[in-house]
Amino acid sequence: MSKTIIISNRLPVQLKISEGKLTAEPSVGGLATGLKSVHRDGDGLWIGWTGLMEEDTPEEMEPEIDKALAKLNCAKVNLNISEIEGYYFGFSNRTIWPLYHYFLEYTEFELKFWESYKSVNQKFADAILANANEEDTIWVHDYQLMLVPQMIREVWPNANIGFFLHIPFPSYEIFRTMPWREEVLEGLLGSDLIGFHTYDYERHFLSSVRRLLNLDVSFNDIYLENRVIKVDSFPMGIDYQKFENAAKENAANSEAEKSDFQKKLDEHKKSAPDTKLIISIDRLDYSKGIAKRINAFEYFLNKYPQFKEKVRLIILAVPSRSNVPQYQLLKKEIDELVGRINGELSTVNWTPIWYFYRSLPFENLIDLYTSSDIAWLTPLRDGMNLVAKEYIATRTDKTGVLILSEMAGSAYEMNEALLINPNNFEQQADTLKKAIEMPKEQQMARNMFLQNRLKRYTVEIWANEFMQALLAQKEGSLATFVS
Ligand code: ADP
Ligand code: G6P
Repeated sequence: MSKTIIISNRLPVQLKISEGKLTAEPSVGGLATGLKSVHRDGDGLWIGWTGLMEEDTPEEMEPEIDKALAKLNCAKVNLNISEIEGYYFGFSNRTIWPLYHYFLEYTEFELKFWESYKSVNQKFADAILANANEEDTIWVHDYQLMLVPQMIREVWPNANIGFFLHIPFPSYEIFRTMPWREEVLEGLLGSDLIGFHTYDYERHFLSSVRRLLNLDVSFNDIYLENRVIKVDSFPMGIDYQKFENAAKENAANSEAEKSDFQKKLDEHKKSAPDTKLIISIDRLDYSKGIAKRINAFEYFLNKYPQFKEKVRLIILAVPSRSNVPQYQLLKKEIDELVGRINGELSTVNWTPIWYFYRSLPFENLIDLYTSSDIAWLTPLRDGMNLVAKEYIATRTDKTGVLILSEMAGSAYEMNEALLINPNNFEQQADTLKKAIEMPKEQQMARNMFLQNRLKRYTVEIWANEFMQALLAQKEGSLATFVS
């Protein structure tokens, strides 16, 4: 029987070994949280990296790790320190991530990173070849593995291969600056179907294929000598029910059942009932615009001083890629900004910013979503941004205001949110005021539309549509070349 093989850099769990004991934590990030819901209901296999370094993993623990992963229908690819440095921190996160998010000034073109990327991609491809067969459907995910589709195609010419990019695909003018641009495109073209979150990313990709590889592109089909590749947009949804149910359970909790975190949030509400709570939740990443958001908050408080002591901004930043210098600099910048603004503006009764630099359990994430009045998400560039969708799904009484950057892929589907340009402080200050003063009926009317849309296009439907398009593409492509 043929199965579906998911392959991504991250598995849905991150393993850790401390004092000889193996522990597992859920992975953070849109790819892992989204696909987890799809994988949970299937009987396929998910192949990826455990987050462990080969050098830190005693050989005698390998069988225990394999067993733990097998229970989750997962299989691992081991990476050593040099591979993690070159492929993961290097090419993936010092070349592709900044380039695709339009941070050219952070982008490093290092041959040794590229060499490592190629050899680790081959390692992932070999793991597929060892764990799957040519009849299986192979779904490759994200920018860390862009060469894998072609590596599989070379061995299995008839394989059914889909690829989905979870981050933006940049315009041709940006993409063409990369020394290995043709190789990356050729790697992706090993697929039968290539999916993006938005039509714009799809368009940029097709333009690069046309101009750099000189291939025959008609609408969203790319014609090779013996195959046709379909390119399409599939905006990723969320597991709506999971977030709605979690919010309902939260609301039904007795005092004793509440988390300590929720109790603190309740205390805060009680002691300052007129204070509005604004939340922002992201990985600590320069693409998320966290430092700009803090500056914009200060700008807002100076422009509208009547809101001093009447609003509080909670920033939850999840540690991410902390070996990459830009992430270390950003952490320092945010620490200093929060310290300075709180130092300058705090009163005995009020601290304007509460800043948490850690990953929180799912339950506390829901506490934050449901206790806030406003969610303020300001990425400078973001493939999708699932936090925006999760926030709306948890608003079971339909109140709450979402302020969302136009630069997030999710903004295309969330027109009823208050959309802002994260570089425009004037506009953001006015939008914050509007959000604080928005009547409940208006909040509810906006959220009703948003919720209905999110309920209809869940992550499960997203995955099914991708799979159906992949099968249809395979059949269509075969028919073209057989007839
Ligand atoms: P990205 O994929 O760039 O990190 P997204 O907003 O698309 O951005 O996805 C982030 C995902 O990580 C969301 O599904 C969110 O629920 C999850 N997440 C964010 N912060 C935390 C946290 N502190 N603890 C656990 N999960 C988190
Ligand atoms: C984004 C990427 C994912 C990645 C996640 C977390 O969502 O699209 O591929 O897994 O960020 O980043 P990390 O580097 O920790 O895997």
